[in-house]
Amino acid sequence: MSKAKEKKKPRVPRTLSRRKFLQGTGAALAVATAGPKIEAQVTVPTAAGESVPRTTIRLTLNGAERRLEVEDRWTLVELLRDHLGLTGTKIGCDRGECGACTVLLDGKPVYSCSNLAVWMDGRSVQTVESLGQNGRLDPLQQAFIDHDAPQCGFCTSGQLMCAKGLLTENSSPTADVVRAAMTGNICRCSGYNHYVEAVLAAATRSASATERSLKEGGSR
Ligand code: FES
Ligand code: FES
Repeated sequence: MSKAKEKKKPRVPRTLSRRKFLQGTGAALAVATAGPKIEAQVTVPTAAGESVPRTTIRLTLNGAERRLEVEDRWTLVELLRDHLGLTGTKIGCDRGECGACTVLLDGKPVYSCSNLAVWMDGRSVQTVESLGQNGRLDPLQQAFIDHDAPQCGFCTSGQLMCAKGLLTENSSPTADVVRAAMTGNICRCSGYNHYVEAVLAAATRSASATERSLKEGGSR
């Protein structure tokens, strides 16, 4: 076969853009969530008198089993903020660019503005409201305060949830690992170094607490 007739092999891009990555994540999520069986569809009349279909989903939200009826067009952040009153999750850009809306989905940080509520069927969602327990701050929240990380605070809940996801997976990350993990969370007050220091401090504090409790357990 002559060279001219040879079919060119498709070029494989060497790098993956952030937008492509996010598009891929959405597609993967759609496939991954195709499994759970959607229970039912109901039609709910709106104040304007139109009938809008809703789908029943079951999910674990901040540790509690919930059965919810959602419109197929609602994003997860709309469900959380506008319909469940969980306003700790913020909307910055509403288009998958800033990270202010980050929550944990099955333990992994995701942008809740870029996921549909109906995709949450059978999944576990954790918002910033789940962090403090019985009036006590999560050690990560305390570290954020100690290190002056929040300035205006608008990005803070997203930063917290992203950091929570990271520390759950890697309890002793390096500064570079923290920076890489939190690269999708933009801070307009540019408190990046404070956030990184706070996450490292929280990791160190929890490692010492684990060591202490192991020692105490051993000396009993
Ligand atoms: S509000 Fe979701 S990424 Fe900006
Ligand atoms: S603290 Fe203001 S945007 Fe991050």
